[in-house]
Amino acid sequence: LWTAKNIIADSIDRVREQVGEDQVILGLSGGVDSSVVAALLHQAIGDKLICVFVDTGLLRLNEGDQVMAMFAENMGVHVIRVNAAERYYIALKGVTDPEAKRKIIGNLFVEIFDEESNKLTNAKWLAQGTIYPDVIESAGSKTGKAHVIKSHHNVGGLPEDMKLGLVEPLRELFKDEVRTIGVELGLPEKMVYRHPFPGPGLGVRILGEVKEEYADLLRQADNIFMEELHKHDLYHKTSQAFAVFLPVKSVGVMGDGRRYDWVIALRAVETIDFMTARWARLPYDFLELMSLRIINEVDGISRVTYDISGKPPATIEWE
Ligand code: XMP
Repeated sequence: LWTAKNIIADSIDRVREQVGEDQVILGLSGGVDSSVVAALLHQAIGDKLICVFVDTGLLRLNEGDQVMAMFAENMGVHVIRVNAAERYYIALKGVTDPEAKRKIIGNLFVEIFDEESNKLTNAKWLAQGTIYPDVIESAGSKTGKAHVIKSHHNVGGLPEDMKLGLVEPLRELFKDEVRTIGVELGLPEKMVYRHPFPGPGLGVRILGEVKEEYADLLRQADNIFMEELHKHDLYHKTSQAFAVFLPVKSVGVMGDGRRYDWVIALRAVETIDFMTARWARLPYDFLELMSLRIINEVDGISRVTYDISGKPPATIEWE
């Protein structure tokens, strides 16, 4: 019977059988799939699981600390945090093309992950949060959308020099099953049912060149948007919602003064499959509150716009 408990028990048995006494490495992103794998493998093999969490500087507000709090502090999972923000900002300096940015972000992730895994000389296995739709997607060779580790290492096999076996306990599961077992494993619902977040993170939500200053402003605006969506019970009425940083300056007034500052766009969509999407009809009063809070609280933002483009013709992300 496919109950969450049975799937977990069965996966634990299989993982133990597969890896024996060996160490296993996992790239923990903070997303649902890798988080569920971490929780599952921690139950199965405890300290033999070593997670590598790369803070790219392109994560949401406090996300790095939250991942460490949940896994390292609360659950006692062994997590190596790599603070790589500076490396990312340097690598992205002067780069404006969206696909070039995605490549740089993805390649740097693999590079850093490889550096860390090379230090773990006892590790024999690489765990991944590959789920069933990824297996199908890779078979159709639609690349670039799956999380970088997945698209680089899964299904098609590992690079020759990375002599690690693969552990993919979610390979036969659909997303809703992954969420169900995540909750059963004790992960907070708030994280298990979070909106999807792209692998390149804020790197594709800062239009054009990525700068730390822009990322900091975007994080604050995005956090206000998320906070209010939750507070107004709108978060789960949208499928994906986020702020986008537009590197354009616009004039505003503040008290007696004139200001000339950056623009934030808010995006919220309703969709079933993310292939097509409708912009979310958020209440006007809610949108007004968003513009007031973001402009008043985020120093450097003078204007907020709401994206009313459907997919198609627009995509969900702006890049
Ligand atoms: P678009 O923008 O193509 O997005 O309408 C559809 C879904 O895919 C996500 N997305 C990405 N996810 N790496 C990812 O892991 C990417 O490069 C990427 N680009 C878009 C997007 O957030 C939405 O859920």
